[in-house]
Amino acid sequence: MAKPIKKDVRQVETTGHSWDGIEEYNNPLPRWWVWVFYATIVWGIGYTIAYPAWPMITRATPGLLGASTRADVAAEIAAVDAANAAIKERLIAADLNAIGDDPELAAYAERAGAAVFRTNCTTCHGSGAAGFEGKGYPNLLDDDWLWGGTMEDIHLTITHGIRNTTDPDARYSQMPAFGTDGILDETQIAQVAEHVLAISGQQHDAAMATEGATIYAENCAACHGEQGEGDRTQGAPRLNDAIWLYGGSREKIIETVTRARFGVMPNWNTRLSEDEIRAVAFYVHGRGGGE
Ligand code: HEC
Ligand code: HEC
Repeated sequence: MAKPIKKDVRQVETTGHSWDGIEEYNNPLPRWWVWVFYATIVWGIGYTIAYPAWPMITRATPGLLGASTRADVAAEIAAVDAANAAIKERLIAADLNAIGDDPELAAYAERAGAAVFRTNCTTCHGSGAAGFEGKGYPNLLDDDWLWGGTMEDIHLTITHGIRNTTDPDARYSQMPAFGTDGILDETQIAQVAEHVLAISGQQHDAAMATEGATIYAENCAACHGEQGEGDRTQGAPRLNDAIWLYGGSREKIIETVTRARFGVMPNWNTRLSEDEIRAVAFYVHGRGGGE
């Protein structure tokens, strides 16, 4: 029980402080308050013994209970992995083209694929997968594919990558550097560039383009096709449309033909598990351009 506060003001001790005649009573603190105060001290000491608390030189004291938020997260991740183990197995076992037929599997692949994409692919392909036009990072949303837009094609591209030196099975092709290697002279390059402008429906010099057409047939058609329709077996981009990997202006085309391009994409088979590769392939395939 708290001590009753003395009713008669004259019996109450004062602290001796006085401001303009106003004095301060020296009433004791309520008993309950004092006990709660001691209890918090005891609790505080107990807590620092039980839990990580006191900073030491390299890390804090670990605490007797061994509590660790890092370990909690690891356990949560392990629990999620365990919960997903069955569906991952199913994803790995599924026929690539049948993933979409199983609504549960499709929903999982879409979600997991989006997460894998956010973490690993956005730096080069953009957060919306629209790529960076003119910089050599392709848009993955359209149906203009360098190497192919079927599930198998996309899966293979992601697994082994493109022109990297780390995976012997990477997709590979190399456009000759027509200028630097002296295959064509400057005039010929300017002419063939006019032909590329012509087949892509842009303003061009008709006389030069006519000369360029012959040069194209001899030097370029083997990879880019007679009409500039491209060739996916060689990753040779289509040239008779308005979609450009490195840029479709006269200057950019001349630069490409003179020095060539060599777009590199890493292989993901050493960084992602098969279920992750399948999920992200499904995700990319579902962005709009999938075939
Ligand atoms: C370091 C940059 C980089 C990263 C990271 C990257 N890519 Fe690529 N990717 C490229 C480049 C460059 C190309 C085009 C290569 C070429 O010129 O043929 C490409 C091409 C592709 C293609 C082929 C497109 C087509 O038109 O055929 C696919 C599919 C693709 N990437 C998917 C992915 C996915 C999925 C990821 C994440 C797991 C990823 N990429 C991460 C750079 C990257
Ligand atoms: C051996 C095959 C090959 C030959 C021959 C070849 N190219 Fe290419 N070309 C490619 C490949 C592959 C790419 C894509 C490079 C990359 O993705 O980094 C490319 C890219 C281009 C691009 C860039 C397209 C874009 O979307 O930005 C242009 C333009 C181009 N070539 C024009 C030509 C012209 C003109 C010739 C003939 C003088 C020619 N190429 C000959 C394989 C070839």
